[in-house]
Amino acid sequence: METKKIEEFKELRGKIMLGGGVSGNQTERQHAAGKLTARERIEVLYDQESFIEDQVYSTSRTSDFGMDAKRHFGDGVVTGSGTVRGRQVFVSSQDFSIVGGSLGEMHAHKIAEVQELAIRTGSPFVQINDSGGARIQEGVLSLNGYARIFRNNTLASGVIPQISLILGPCAGGAVYSPALTDFIFMVDTISHMYITGPDVIRTVTGEVITHEQLGGASAHCSKSGVAHFRFATEQECFSFLRKFLTYLPSNNSEDPPVVHSGDPVTRPTPDILSIIPDTAKMSYDVRDIITQIADRDSFIEIQKEWAMTLVIGFARLEGRTVGIFANQPKHMAAVLDIDSSDKGSRFIRFCDAFNIPLISLVDVPGYLPGVAQEHAGIIRHGAKMLFAVSEATVPKIALIMRKSYGGSMIAMSAKALGYDRVLAYPTAEIAVMGAESAASIIFHKEIQMAKHPEKKKNEKIAEFQQQFMNPYSAAALGLVDDIIDPEQTRRELIYSLRMISRKKEDRPSRKHGLMPV
Ligand code: HXC
Repeated sequence: METKKIEEFKELRGKIMLGGGVSGNQTERQHAAGKLTARERIEVLYDQESFIEDQVYSTSRTSDFGMDAKRHFGDGVVTGSGTVRGRQVFVSSQDFSIVGGSLGEMHAHKIAEVQELAIRTGSPFVQINDSGGARIQEGVLSLNGYARIFRNNTLASGVIPQISLILGPCAGGAVYSPALTDFIFMVDTISHMYITGPDVIRTVTGEVITHEQLGGASAHCSKSGVAHFRFATEQECFSFLRKFLTYLPSNNSEDPPVVHSGDPVTRPTPDILSIIPDTAKMSYDVRDIITQIADRDSFIEIQKEWAMTLVIGFARLEGRTVGIFANQPKHMAAVLDIDSSDKGSRFIRFCDAFNIPLISLVDVPGYLPGVAQEHAGIIRHGAKMLFAVSEATVPKIALIMRKSYGGSMIAMSAKALGYDRVLAYPTAEIAVMGAESAASIIFHKEIQMAKHPEKKKNEKIAEFQQQFMNPYSAAALGLVDDIIDPEQTRRELIYSLRMISRKKEDRPSRKHGLMPV
């Protein structure tokens, strides 16, 4: 072969592999900003030497506004595929050192190509965002590129897991690709996501705010609910992502990998007796219950800083991934509100799409009352939970631990909504509402006319409690399948999952339902 051409090829390839950092300055700039480069990110994501790059030689074909001088092979994004713990995963990693990682025609084409390969091969897609947004010099071609990516995100939804890592700026319409994916990861101080930045906001509304306050990891993990995980460093973020992927199947026709921990199936759970307080008015942390039940060290909480009245996350039982959604008495007595309904229903949809059985842990007094919630649409948002549970065809188990009242009882634990197995502790209270409110409505005349109304009221509350605030009435009607010993919770849940793991459910044919969004 012609040696000169081979040598030229090697020299060129070597330069390309340096990304925009040919001079070294750009890499240093990236590091000085506390960020890894696009290729360093790929190195920490993948198993050693497993990455293979796609479309290395793509370049912008625009010459306008000085683009001739800024043209680089790869066009500001590294794309390709490799293995994460042995399984194929596709990636796009924007290179801020080339035209600010901005998205032009070929840049978009490269991302869309790997998205489409990921869909065709049934493999997860990870997109790493670090970009100034639409490449201004490429105008409408750049916007059209975003449209192709958004459409691919939508077509991939529910087919392959899609995860977005925001590791730099992600502004304007560019935020909508991550928003269309399943999980968003952010890192403190380097990740910023917003539709319009602080300068525009100051001009338009007069509000003064920093990039971090407006669109940093903390804002999106605790206030907006846009992001799902936040980390102190990129290294932490990638190390967690590698673990997180082991909880997910590669696509919707597979099951998640089975990862055994050696935790015995019949391990008793006596601590649950002391975690749940004697009186229904006292709170506890439902995460303590989850860690009792789940395989050792397997619980991963999602969106832990937002909508905290509902805890959601993946755990393993007998090595298999389950999706847990649990009322959290530690926050606002575990009421379901607008945000927790959104959080729960989206999570249920994800689990259903990817063959992950669901377990609901129930201790809920109801939907949150109040003018603000009503006017912000709790009817519409609360309905999402009902829709998501009803439509899910994966195995579904509810465990009623304490309160299960009213509409929230239905969302979290009603057999008729489609829970395959409803279990209850002897301490469960299943009713339309709490005893105090119930007694003052249905016995109000008797109480008013009594010689000692307060005494009468207490008698009636006790009467109501005796009759309804237990799991036996519901069990007698077949609405609770079994009342279980809390010390045997892990065993009961695992055996129940075994019992229903092969379930199949058909649905009437339709184009799609209309989830109340
Ligand atoms: C072309 C861009 C660019 C863009 C950055 N650059 N953004 N080039 N199009 N959108 C270039 C800069 O000119 C610079 O080139 C290099 O990238 C690095 O940028 P700096 O500004 O020096 O970096 P920094 O100070 O870190 O600031 C980063 C930034 C800022 C905050 C992202 O660059 C910025 O505000 N960019 C514009 C953001 C924006 O408004 N994008 C459009 C959003 S609207 P040189 O040659 O000087 O190194 C949008 C619509 C999408 O995206 C719609 C989809 C539906």
